[in-house]
Amino acid sequence: MSVLIQEFDDIFQRKKSYIFITGDALEVLRTFPGNTVDCVITSPPYWQLREYDNNENPMEIGNETDFRQYVNNLTLVFNEIKRILTNQGSLWLNLGDKYNNKELMGMPWRVALSLMDSGWILRNDIIWDQMKGTQSCKDRLRDVYEHVFHFVKEKKYYYDHNEIRIHPVRKPKKYNGELVSATGVSGKKYRQQIESSNSLSKEEKDIAMKALEDTLADMEKGTIVDFRMTIRGQQRTYHSDNQNVSGRAKELATKGYFILRMGANGHIPSDIWRIAPEDTWRTDAHYAVFPEELLLNPIKATCPADGIVLDPFSGTGSTVCTAVKLNRRGIGIDLSEQYNETAKKRMKDVCRDLF
Ligand SMILES: C[S@@+](CC[C@H](N)C(=O)[O-])C[C@H]1O[C@@H](n2cnc3c(N)ncnc32)[C@H](O)[C@@H]1O
Repeated sequence: MSVLIQEFDDIFQRKKSYIFITGDALEVLRTFPGNTVDCVITSPPYWQLREYDNNENPMEIGNETDFRQYVNNLTLVFNEIKRILTNQGSLWLNLGDKYNNKELMGMPWRVALSLMDSGWILRNDIIWDQMKGTQSCKDRLRDVYEHVFHFVKEKKYYYDHNEIRIHPVRKPKKYNGELVSATGVSGKKYRQQIESSNSLSKEEKDIAMKALEDTLADMEKGTIVDFRMTIRGQQRTYHSDNQNVSGRAKELATKGYFILRMGANGHIPSDIWRIAPEDTWRTDAHYAVFPEELLLNPIKATCPADGIVLDPFSGTGSTVCTAVKLNRRGIGIDLSEQYNETAKKRMKDVCRDLF
């Protein structure tokens, strides 16, 4: 058995919880068996932003003079990943853009479109707002975001939304014997608006009142923490009045009301993430380190407990480190022996914390 296959087998058979392999991502991935890895999270080198210590290694990605070659090289790597990912698996790809001769290149989208053309299904384009400080440019706006693309192989894939729900900070409370929602809504104003409405028929008023009382009962039971009611002729509908465009506008026209309910089990995070970039490991000879916070939702939602997370451009090993902390197994690949040594040192600290 070759060394690489043995290394992979140790992870697959649970003899180890993580490994770091030094080598070219594409070459290493070609040795892995198909349909075995649950989740891939990675940030490849960006085009022509040479920052890494790879001693002019010709295999290093990002140094291509033609951007099309860069897109092509990454597409080859991600097509190999498609082979080794389970059918329920996910790929999370972080990429930043680049100005070339004053022109914004749209590199993240060039890569994303190439992957879509190769059969990947794009589920989300997450905007990672890095909240960067001032930049010196005087003829355009500050650029503060990068992309994190979520791709899947199949339409049905592993996604545990309950693991990543944002739970409400405030809950309904009683004031002077009256229950009010997390943001202070008691239903009193809506009751008056229904009763005094010139726009609702008697029958519509009865139905709207019953829906309001049912919603308040759900708040009392604790199944919802908040709600808003929109009543025909009283409030405008959100987004659009056009019934062909908005389901809520249609409901308002046909039933005379609609109710927006905020469930007690939280809501799904949005596709804009405000996370400051990590600098802890930057001083230890590496740039562009993943902040742990960026990795939590991808791992929790798309890698089952004890599953395998892979980062084919693992740098200082942030992905593997966070995967192991979350009780998953991790595989890191990087061209640089030195970065892998840093990653292994980092893992020793994580494991000391864990065991
Ligand atoms: C943006 S960094 C990844 C940083 C990582 N996310 C972290 O948290 O430390 C990209 C990494 O890709 C590595 N790399 C460049 N070309 C490679 C190749 N052909 N195969 C494997 N790794 C490569 C570089 O050495 C660098 O560490």
